[in-house]
Amino acid sequence: MTKLVINEKKTLGHIEPEVYGHFSEHLGRCIYEGIYVGENSDIPNENGMRKDVVEALKELKVPMLRWPGGCFADEYHWKDGIGPKESRKKMINTHWGGVVEDNSFGTHEYMELCRQLGCKTYVNGNLGSGTVQEMSEWVEYMTFNGVSPMADLRAKNGHEEPWHVDFFGVGNENWGCGGNMTPQHYANEYRRYQTYVRDYDENYPIKKVCCGANVDDYHWTEEVMRTTFDHAEKFHGFMDYLSLHHYTFPHGWDLKGSATDFDEATWYKTLTQTLYMDELITKHSTIMDQYDPQKKIGMAVDEWGAWYTCEPGTNPGFLYQQNTVRDSLIAGITLNIFNKHCDRVKLAALAQMVNVLQAVLLTEGEKMIKTPTYHVMHMYRYHQDADLLQSQLVDDTTTGIDEWMVPKVTESVSKDADGVITITLNNLSVTDTEQVEVSFFEDGYKVQEARIVTGEAMNTYNTFENPEAVVEKAFDGIEQTNGKLLVSLPAHSVVLLRVKK
Ligand code: AHR
Repeated sequence: MTKLVINEKKTLGHIEPEVYGHFSEHLGRCIYEGIYVGENSDIPNENGMRKDVVEALKELKVPMLRWPGGCFADEYHWKDGIGPKESRKKMINTHWGGVVEDNSFGTHEYMELCRQLGCKTYVNGNLGSGTVQEMSEWVEYMTFNGVSPMADLRAKNGHEEPWHVDFFGVGNENWGCGGNMTPQHYANEYRRYQTYVRDYDENYPIKKVCCGANVDDYHWTEEVMRTTFDHAEKFHGFMDYLSLHHYTFPHGWDLKGSATDFDEATWYKTLTQTLYMDELITKHSTIMDQYDPQKKIGMAVDEWGAWYTCEPGTNPGFLYQQNTVRDSLIAGITLNIFNKHCDRVKLAALAQMVNVLQAVLLTEGEKMIKTPTYHVMHMYRYHQDADLLQSQLVDDTTTGIDEWMVPKVTESVSKDADGVITITLNNLSVTDTEQVEVSFFEDGYKVQEARIVTGEAMNTYNTFENPEAVVEKAFDGIEQTNGKLLVSLPAHSVVLLRVKK
């Protein structure tokens, strides 16, 4: 039996809602078809946004949405995506599938989407192939309230009022698709470009995201911190976040592996890669600590999730993949890791929102289904804006096959403003139920709500014909005795408990 000891008297930090953020790129069918179908579509929409998708996303309490990329961001020239749609420039999306990008979804449409979702905006600027002036003018276009060429242009295009840009990425993956730069070169470019990302409204300062490392490139973190920190220390708003990207590839970047057809060894191998996020955050954060021990600069894990070989028969450049019970564990494990690191991880974005990589929603024409990952994100929404509580597993053991050993259980615990405690538990075993005894500092806690996401098998998934093979359900595997909870955690499951005195 595993024991989970919770000290509800000890708060370790605050879980920022933006840790539960999402990412939407001009990639495959994420934006076009998945979210935006245009005002003239037969698919029910509001100002071009699919109503079914927006409604489902609102249930997740999406706190923030990153756009327009990804690699696309460093090729995106924002002026192509404003003004009358018929005269917007058509171009080839060279990065993703070589298809025509007609720019019908641009700045105004993105802002409208965020308005409908009620979420914060995270715009990723183009440092790789764009100019300082272009970046500066985009910020002016979006946020300046007054007389200026860009504010006038915005008004001419139908939006008199400025919008709020909550987060702004100064480049994306500039060590790779964003210009193949060295860390020193990028860091100097960051210093220059960010200068012109101006705060036009002092009530809504823009939080800037500096491009951080690819997975375990600790040298990048070290050099970027070294080259920028004199300014980050002196000037408020110089750098608010440093990013980190880490994807789970079952068989590595080259082979990836099927989303739905895998054996038990691959299940454990995949989860070891997901668990690696903990080590990555710890090590990058330790480097950041040498400069920023007070953790004023947050870590933004603004791309995470599973990346498989795309679904057979689909455009390989579209990164369309299915989503199984394994993905629900990948989501549950990762979000527990983020919660535990809430002192440093202040923002994150699952890649990507619809129809791409570990999507929460899949669409086919007018049909839409929720993936297992959706249901986990829905259960975990209670952690948003809550305080992390001290919690620890005792007598816990590992499971796995060959060298792919993983803990049987992972967890995180938070308390919201109403004093309700949220406990999220994952059973990583493919085959075995695990008994978990949950105890508190004080007695008297009662379960208010218990939910579970699991499926018949480790690779069960939802299809357009059978959309409810994996859903969130009420969970009754709990006994309450002597102030403790005995939870019978089914194999390959993610469980939510909400308790209060
Ligand atoms: O999410 C897909 C791609 O992965 C993004 O465009 C890029 O930033 C990363 O390499």
